[in-house]
Amino acid sequence: MSKVIVIGSQKGGVGKTTTTLNLAYSLCSMGKKVLAIDLDSQANLSTCYGIENTKDLEYTIGHLLMAQIEEEEPEELEHYIQSKDGVDFIPSSIYLSAVEAKLRTEMGAERMLAEVLAPIRDRYDYVLVDTVPSLGMLTVNALAVADEVIITVNPQLLAMMGLQDFLRTVGKIKKRINPKLTIAGILLTMCDGRTTLCKVLTEEVTGSFQGQIKIFKNRIPSTVKVGESIYYSMPIALYSKKASAGIAYRKFAKELIDYEG
Ligand SMILES: Nc1ncnc2c1ncn2[C@@H]1O[C@H](COP(=O)(O)OP(=O)(O)O)[C@@H](O)[C@H]1O
Ligand SMILES: [Mg+2]
Repeated sequence: MSKVIVIGSQKGGVGKTTTTLNLAYSLCSMGKKVLAIDLDSQANLSTCYGIENTKDLEYTIGHLLMAQIEEEEPEELEHYIQSKDGVDFIPSSIYLSAVEAKLRTEMGAERMLAEVLAPIRDRYDYVLVDTVPSLGMLTVNALAVADEVIITVNPQLLAMMGLQDFLRTVGKIKKRINPKLTIAGILLTMCDGRTTLCKVLTEEVTGSFQGQIKIFKNRIPSTVKVGESIYYSMPIALYSKKASAGIAYRKFAKELIDYEG
């Protein structure tokens, strides 16, 4: 049985894309079959996978969604699924923003991604979906198909702001569209353990949700190696074996697998 995990947050710049890339790689290096989906029209994840001109792509998640909306047969799925360092992925492009506009006017629009994934998901142990920092139709589509959501929080960026809105949206989707949806937990990213602010904000997040939402034990430290590895289109662990963030993502992947039993 495959598990669809959405990496979400109401904010940008909190490490969603970095987490998708590195969690996918870590799970894959533990022998899991993983598909990563770029559900952001800015296509940052696709760029992380080394695709340079995303706007020229003809086979993206946007094209799959559009075919679904128009009830057309998409071309063979194999065209859409690319592979990098053992991880399969479906790229995105700016075309996805046109798809999002279209979704706003469609009936039953929140199930389109679920329909697209139906014939694909069971080939994988994990399908990870990288989302945008808005609660628009794309995020709703992602949450409508998800088994779990991992919320990334950057304790440097007024961590708590907007978090309740995001949780409320998750709650509504669970109630109205997708009863199996659960919150896997909050992953703290870009933690600089030496700074007081980071400590204070981490305690604030932990204190607010204790007993309600799991805060993953493994936190991702802040390190320049992340930016460097992305520049070279590599997961951190491949770019530098010793980089703290790469080691943390691997431990986090292990924690996630163990937690799921
Ligand atoms: N652990 C980290 N240490 C240092 N920089 C990081 C770390 N994680 C992410 N970054 C950087 O922070 C920026 C935002 O991260 P990103 O994953 O793109 O966030 P989001 O997808 O939530 O917008 C990127 O420039 C990325 O390289
Ligand atoms: Mg992103």
